[in-house]
Amino acid sequence: MVILIIFSDSRILKFSNSLKKSIFDSQIKRMLKILTIIGARPQIIKAAALSRAIRTDYADQIQEIILHTGQHYDENMSQVFFDEMGIPEADYNLSVGSDTHARQTAAMLEGIEVAIAREKPDWLVLYGDTNSTLAGAIAAVKLGVPVAHIEAGLRSFNKTMPEEINRITCDHCSTLLFSPSSTGIENLSKEGFLINATAPYSINQPGVFHCGDVMYDNAQYFSDIAEERSDIIERLDLEDGQFILATIHRDNNTDIPDRLQSIFSAIIKIGKAETVVLPLHPRTLKMLERHSDKALLDEIRSSDYIRLIPPVSFLEMIMLEKHASLIMTDSGGVQKESYFYHKPCIILRPETEWVEIVENGSAVIADADEKKILSAYDHFKNKPPASFPPLYGDGRAAWFICDMLLSSTSSV
Ligand code: UD1
Ligand code: UDP
Repeated sequence: MVILIIFSDSRILKFSNSLKKSIFDSQIKRMLKILTIIGARPQIIKAAALSRAIRTDYADQIQEIILHTGQHYDENMSQVFFDEMGIPEADYNLSVGSDTHARQTAAMLEGIEVAIAREKPDWLVLYGDTNSTLAGAIAAVKLGVPVAHIEAGLRSFNKTMPEEINRITCDHCSTLLFSPSSTGIENLSKEGFLINATAPYSINQPGVFHCGDVMYDNAQYFSDIAEERSDIIERLDLEDGQFILATIHRDNNTDIPDRLQSIFSAIIKIGKAETVVLPLHPRTLKMLERHSDKALLDEIRSSDYIRLIPPVSFLEMIMLEKHASLIMTDSGGVQKESYFYHKPCIILRPETEWVEIVENGSAVIADADEKKILSAYDHFKNKPPASFPPLYGDGRAAWFICDMLLSSTSSV
């Protein structure tokens, strides 16, 4: 810099420019640039773990650019997590909003392509299995930008789920695959991924790693913070261990009236014995109002023991999870959090990607079957699960991922 100020004639300036370029190049080499794509609630939450690791320990090595597709946009489905979890404001917001799968994904694809072309990132970082994940994977792979997929390898083996198609596509577009569970590694191996591939990694020779779950990083980090900052238990007048927490949002539960009806019939019966708190995803509320028979809706609304509330913040959710006696859910994230906080879980789906928790006996698959839900409830009331061995890492998955992004970059 000093040299640039002192010399001003054209000959020296030429020399100075090349010097400036070499200083600039060496800075770029030291600073890895990642473009993180988020869009839906669980991705914003997962991204908080990596952003926190970067801020804490890699601020001089990794530059993170955040692109929010706008798939989720209500304050309580998006902004609340940025504010509460200290996620930097998004550099891009595509504001795609809700639409059909094709239109929503197409709008994301276009916007992500522009951002990639402008930012020229070393890595595109993707989370989970939503349409935002799918759009990111396809945009990046066509531009030759390597993809790092966090939450790789999960499978429901049910290709009627939009998420199953999204996650398979994303895994097969990835250069680095970070699996939260050993099951994920086994699934990838069965699909032909070489588990012991060595660097240099590429899309044709991807690196596959069992690194633990960034959601466990978050669960550990925010557990005490939630106790300090959230008063939701008092506000809702709940008692520790005296209520059930339930979430429902999967399209095959919300959009199939018989299934939604069956789940709510079970909740009404359980609600006669124990309070059920239901932070409702906007999709579920919409469908409940549209499809449920009026008598059922009236019964839910008039019940003193069923508490329909809007989606809650992450800290509030942690408090509800930690203080519930049992959790009923079709959410992937909430299933795991029930395990992190040692709660029995009734899975309102025909299958799960998190098979370990079922094998452990702390979760039961009940689908949308009223009888199975009630019998799982009785089972756990009589015999609560006793042990929750660690399955999802040591709370440092995000640090492992940062190290791998850095060490794999020269080889890309
Ligand atoms: C999406 C993901 C799903 C994930 C879930 C997490 C896909 C295909 N699905 O499902 O894998 O588990 O997010 O929550 O990507 N809505 C609002 N406000 C919002 C967002 C959505 O009112 O901020 C309503 C709209 O009516 C919308 C509906 O919810 O049509 C569904 O939203 P969408 O993002 O398409 O799917 P999710 O069911 O949220
Ligand atoms: N969550 C939240 N508030 C809510 C419901 C869920 O903060 O009202 C959190 C939950 O703790 C978990 C994540 O959202 O971390 C799970 O997201 P979601 O259930 O929407 O999607 P999935 O995990 O099924 O993809």
